[in-house]
Amino acid sequence: MTRYLTSDPERFELVELPRAAAGYSFADDVLVGLTAPKKTLPSKYFYDELGSALFDAITRLPEYYLTRAETEILNEQGWEMVRVLGGPVDFLELGSGSAAKTRILIDEALRAQETLRYSAIDISAEALRSSSAALVERYEGLSVRAYAGDYFTLLQSGALTFDRPVLAMLMGSNLGNYAPREAQALVSLMSGALRPGDGILLGTDRKKDRAVLEAAYDDSAGVTAAFDKNLLGRINRELGGHFNLRAFDHVARYDDARGCVESFLVSAVAQSVRIDALDTSIEFRKGEAIHTESSYKFDDADIAALAQGAKLEVRQAWYDKGKRFNVHLLTK
Ligand code: AVJ
Repeated sequence: MTRYLTSDPERFELVELPRAAAGYSFADDVLVGLTAPKKTLPSKYFYDELGSALFDAITRLPEYYLTRAETEILNEQGWEMVRVLGGPVDFLELGSGSAAKTRILIDEALRAQETLRYSAIDISAEALRSSSAALVERYEGLSVRAYAGDYFTLLQSGALTFDRPVLAMLMGSNLGNYAPREAQALVSLMSGALRPGDGILLGTDRKKDRAVLEAAYDDSAGVTAAFDKNLLGRINRELGGHFNLRAFDHVARYDDARGCVESFLVSAVAQSVRIDALDTSIEFRKGEAIHTESSYKFDDADIAALAQGAKLEVRQAWYDKGKRFNVHLLTK
């Protein structure tokens, strides 16, 4: 592991996790995904610098209600979330991104206790570096331990240690990107890293009307389409790909049997696209799709089943006024 000590090593440390032993690189994953009979690309690759900025823009779109609804819940009920375990806590957040919403809970925690240790893990070292530096500057009682890498690697590494009861967080509907089996594995792994008395806050989007969901993932300004196509742009930039982004259409469809919005890039024409670094060309039929993301939606019964599968209890649930989104507290 590489540790980067900052000007204030007491209060901010960034750890770059090794790639999991069985981990694949971007090039490997692109080759496997685009040569499969049903083409697919992993959604974790959305978040390079441009992709992270595009996602930030998505959170401000009128159609993308998720971030606003979760922010409303944290603003209204965050005071209770940081107190519900009954004493001072440490935070552990998976997928902190810009940590904008986390600030609400940090504010609340530092009202209830003098100091707070915030451990954060994110796939983007850049996002971590800038958000952590800003956080320690803003909050005197806060110390940040940031981990750049994969959630599963960190949770299995044994590197996490805590002095206080832990309030772990998987917010922003991040859980929704995992297929049901993986989502269960992730929550179980989180549970395994925690002790009795600790809790997990899960922020998830609720199942709802198809039109609302499909608009949230295909906005009229085309920002989500640009976000999706950035996967192809990233292949062009990093792997010498020759994708013409205009020759693909972004499509989002709600599969209500599975409770999940699926995003695709659909080839508008028959085409062959060369990727230099892979020394190969990928053939597309007209109308052929690349699956780029699944965004699962959860009702209370889905959360109860996840908790049960991880031997956790659902202690409490908080909703926004529109009941579009929710935060559940699962305890060990
Ligand atoms: C960051 C995974 C929660 O699935 O809603 C937003 C990503 N994709 N618009 C989601 C996303 C298209 C987002 N998550």
